[in-house]
Amino acid sequence: MKNIVITGAAGGVGKEIANLLKGENLFLIDYNQDGLNLLANKLKANAYVCDVSNPIQVETTFKKIFDDAKTIDVLINCAGVWTKGELTKQEYEPFKNINTLERIKQLIDTNTFGIIATIKSVVPIMQKQGGGQIININSQSGVVVEEFCPVYNASKSGSMAFSRAIINDLGKHNIKLTDICPGLIKTNFYVNAKDPLPKEVMDCGLEPSDVANLVLYVVNLPKEITLPTIEIKNMKNF
Ligand SMILES: NC(=O)c1ccc[n+]([C@@H]2O[C@H](COP(=O)([O-])OP(=O)(O)OC[C@H]3O[C@@H](n4cnc5c(N)ncnc54)[C@H](OP(=O)(O)O)[C@@H]3O)[C@@H](O)[C@H]2O)c1
Repeated sequence: MKNIVITGAAGGVGKEIANLLKGENLFLIDYNQDGLNLLANKLKANAYVCDVSNPIQVETTFKKIFDDAKTIDVLINCAGVWTKGELTKQEYEPFKNINTLERIKQLIDTNTFGIIATIKSVVPIMQKQGGGQIININSQSGVVVEEFCPVYNASKSGSMAFSRAIINDLGKHNIKLTDICPGLIKTNFYVNAKDPLPKEVMDCGLEPSDVANLVLYVVNLPKEITLPTIEIKNMKNF
């Protein structure tokens, strides 16, 4: 059994991955306490309420996980938030003040800092144990320019740049790093951000299980093989 940490585990893709990996020893992180506890009870997994945008909470949580798990084989980063709107749109409907500085900071702190913080937290233990694996659920926004969501685009591109900058260093320590870059996925991601998409748009998305199955494939790759970047889209999403 592998010790696997999943962030954003109470929602969409993270929850699907946790369900798929239920035979493993799971350490689930989310800031949605009720959703997290419900899932952890169902899967008999360990639960840690933590906001990945908060440095102190990340430090404390990973210290607890190390104490409980002793080793970490895989870290899967799913926690993320959405916002859209050109900077020139001051009152984008239906989500007003979408580009307030506070909202922008929260998004960058979650989508970019959160990834850096969790990776920085697991690297010393993976180094010490002689290797490990990190999988980030990034986005198409990490690989292309999307003018309708510049802040989200910056957050995911920043996270992708971080991965590209560390992948060789981690590789020398036998730590694999994969960024999965999905297009639209049918989760509550947009509803959670008060920006529900029309049904005909959501119908063109991937199922969360499409992404979760890909994660399972990456986790089960032979020890000497890695996939640094993977893009996945529904054919209807072109
Ligand atoms: N859905 C898409 O179309 C899509 C496409 C490409 C990439 N992605 C990426 O896929 C990942 C998973 O998204 P999803 O679609 O599964 O979204 P989701 O259904 O909203 O799930 C995300 C989970 O992360 C949690 N979370 C958010 N911010 C957090 C924080 N600061 N600390 C801890 N937990 C936090 C959320 O809690 P709450 O529910 O309480 O907010 C939720 O449980 C994200 O990184 C997203 O950027 C999504």
